[in-house]
Amino acid sequence: MAAPVRIAPSILSADFARLGDEIAAVEAAGADLIHVDVMDGHYVPNITIGPAVVKAIKPHAKKPLDVHLMISPVDPFVEDFAKAGADIITVHPEAGPHVHRTLQFIRSLGKKPGVVLNPGTPIETIDNLMDLVDLVLIMSVNPGFGGQSFIESQIGKIAAARKRIDATGRDIALEVDGGINPETAKRCIAAGATVLVAGTAVFKGGAGQYAANIAALRG
Ligand code: DX5
Ligand code: ZN
Repeated sequence: MAAPVRIAPSILSADFARLGDEIAAVEAAGADLIHVDVMDGHYVPNITIGPAVVKAIKPHAKKPLDVHLMISPVDPFVEDFAKAGADIITVHPEAGPHVHRTLQFIRSLGKKPGVVLNPGTPIETIDNLMDLVDLVLIMSVNPGFGGQSFIESQIGKIAAARKRIDATGRDIALEVDGGINPETAKRCIAAGATVLVAGTAVFKGGAGQYAANIAALRG
């Protein structure tokens, strides 16, 4: 039987004034990873979290920090996020001149590298990167904001990524991010996803709901 899907709550939807408590609450509710959305107002039209905040939340997280960099240029900041406590660092090919080099650099820092594909980025983009990544992240919304609707065409891309990962024979996580709810989660899992990021669907209703919200995403 396939391993159960892992759930990565995006703290973008958490109460930013109480991030430590929010992380403890989602971990107690069953979170497998903590997804950190880093935005710079340049690569994406929103500004969120920098390395100082990652460093501040690190002692509050028992689960790995999955740091999604939506910043350009990305290379000058990768080491700062690694030192701040990121465990997984994911980058968009559009965010720097040499994504292959960026992924090598993340690995050289002892962190798990991942590549992220926007809805408009072709799946073939990962073909020459598979030996360098521990995670492939398919965006099912355009990056920048929580609370957007799932883009259906990305289901086919998840399935295409699944085939490529299986062909490597390596243990590469297949993560989906954006518009995940109990209904879209099922279809992502059926297409081969192994990690689901969810902000709105996890944090809605307050801490008393987190366990039920996370359980509902497991299918
Ligand atoms: C979008 C972010 C997502 C986002 C998901 O740029 O990468 O992680 O927070 O939010 P929901 O689950 O609300 O679509
Ligand atoms: Zn994200």
